[in-house]
Amino acid sequence: MQVFSEIVDIRQARWKEPSTRWGLVPTMGFLHEGHLNLVRRARNENDRVGVSIFVNPIQFNDTKDLDHYPRDLPRDLALLEKEGVDLVWTPTPEQVYPENFQTYITVEKISQPLEGKARPGHFRGVTTVVAKLFNIFQPDRAYFGQKDAQQVAVIKQMIEDLNFNLEIIICPTVRESDGLAMSSRNARLSPQGRVDATWLYRALSNARTAFEQGIRDAQKLKGIILKTLQEKNIRVDYISITNPVTLQELEIIQQEALVSLAAFVDEVRLIDNMIIG
Ligand code: PAJ
Repeated sequence: MQVFSEIVDIRQARWKEPSTRWGLVPTMGFLHEGHLNLVRRARNENDRVGVSIFVNPIQFNDTKDLDHYPRDLPRDLALLEKEGVDLVWTPTPEQVYPENFQTYITVEKISQPLEGKARPGHFRGVTTVVAKLFNIFQPDRAYFGQKDAQQVAVIKQMIEDLNFNLEIIICPTVRESDGLAMSSRNARLSPQGRVDATWLYRALSNARTAFEQGIRDAQKLKGIILKTLQEKNIRVDYISITNPVTLQELEIIQQEALVSLAAFVDEVRLIDNMIIG
């Protein structure tokens, strides 16, 4: 496994054998099974696999959140080595954003609601860094998790609008055995917070059960989620039921719908989602 921080080294390694098919897994490190599942899928579907590990400062609107973001590069590299990854990029912020950096990518409409509203500038940071990663690695396929459903929608829109020549592969959310969606942020939960956090999944599951029993009214389903979270005094940021592609809020669910939520447990902001219908 080759590990580089310089962009020229990544380019050189990527183009050493031009006919090979490359899969790219962009990450911010502190890897868990959710990330490794993307790596395995990329491993299966491509000749070579590249992974980036970069805690992207411009997608954090809150410096405290950036400062607290967990990091463990030696452990991450050991995990990636075991998965048979070929190439890892571990740049510094200065390498990604040199002093004269001044170009940003904004996907306008679907970056606005939900996470975009709660975290102004977040998706502008994500799309800018992901566009750079695509240009640096020039992968044939790039792998993202459904855990970040809005990120998926925004990146797909960017690919289409800017004619990036690659395929986006979306992988299902990997969960702990009690249902909690895996996240690097879970490491910041207290033991009690870790137990309470399972209620996010429970709340989404309750909404899915109600949907399966015939409830189609989005307000009613949101009410069920809210009630479940309130039982544990979990502070809700948003509960949303939208079209998964356009992210427009739905009143009545007639086709596939994205049920998503953000909530604070131990002051840690967690997100989760489920597709129903
Ligand atoms: P990060 O949070 O490290 O996640 C990297 C990738 O892993 C994302 O595509 C995310 O959706 C996926 N992922 C995280 N937890 C998952 C889980 N439990 N199940 C399935 N997939 C999961 O998302 C980012 O980094 C950044 O925004 C990035 C795209 C790297 C740009 O900086």
